[in-house]
This record gives sequence, structure tokens and C-alpha cells, in this order.
Amino acid sequence: MSAAVPPKILQGLVRDLHHVAIAVPDLAGARELYEGALGLTATEIEHVPDQQVNVLVLFAGTQRIELVEPAAEDSPISKFLARRGAGLHHLAWRVDDLVAALAHLSALGVRLIHDTPREGSHGTRVAFLHPKATGGVLMELVEDPAA
Ligand code: CO
Repeated sequence: MSAAVPPKILQGLVRDLHHVAIAVPDLAGARELYEGALGLTATEIEHVPDQQVNVLVLFAGTQRIELVEPAAEDSPISKFLARRGAGLHHLAWRVDDLVAALAHLSALGVRLIHDTPREGSHGTRVAFLHPKATGGVLMELVEDPAA
């Protein structure tokens, strides 16, 4: 059943897990859980126009969680919430060179949602792989000049 997942497509490209993103209907409510109950350290809420979302980045030590709420009715997160409800949205992997990583994946015939980098939160550049290429889990590649 795993024939749709090409072997080793990200081998040598991935540095580490950059963040885990959770889709939420509203940041304020979710913030109470992650900042309050779990005690994570929150940064400022950032609007990411390219993906029509508001993002709250929280840290547990160096590990990063992103809460993502829709900023428009036709945001991809609105569609996700309508279909699946709040919960895990994607895993984001850090790469050194996003353009090179995307070229590598394209050459392997891996299905991508974005074949060129988009603007992510906090000065990052990001692109998503199609979940059909990654076992049903949405995955993002992140080039982060701050990391
Ligand atoms: Co992300």
C-alpha cells in the first residue's frame, strides 16, 4: 500500500523538524491551551498573506509549534477545518536550500503543491509537498535564515 511513496525522496535534504503546525478555528482559544496549560513560550501573532492565515509561533525550548488560524473564508485552513476539524495540519522540515530541494523533488516526479518557494512566517521561505506523495501527511519544506 506504500507504493505511492517514492523511497528516499528527502534523503540528504532534511536537516531537522522545523515545526509542527496545528490548525485551529481561533488563536485566542488555542493559545490558552498551548501557552497557558502547556506553558509554551508564545511569540507575536503574524499575518501571512500568501496563505491567508494568522500564525502564532510557540516554543518548547528550541522546538517550535505553529498554531494556524484562517484569515479568510477561502483560506486553505478554512477548508481543512471544515473537512477535518481542528488538529494536526502539517510537519515542516528544515532544508538548507529550498529551490534546490524543490528541483530535486520535481526531477524525481514527486507531486508538489508549490514548485517555487512562498513567503512563510518569520522571514522563512516555504513550499508544500502534496500529501498523496507523503503517506497522507501534509509536509512542508522550510528555508529559515534564522535557524
Ligand atoms: Co508550516
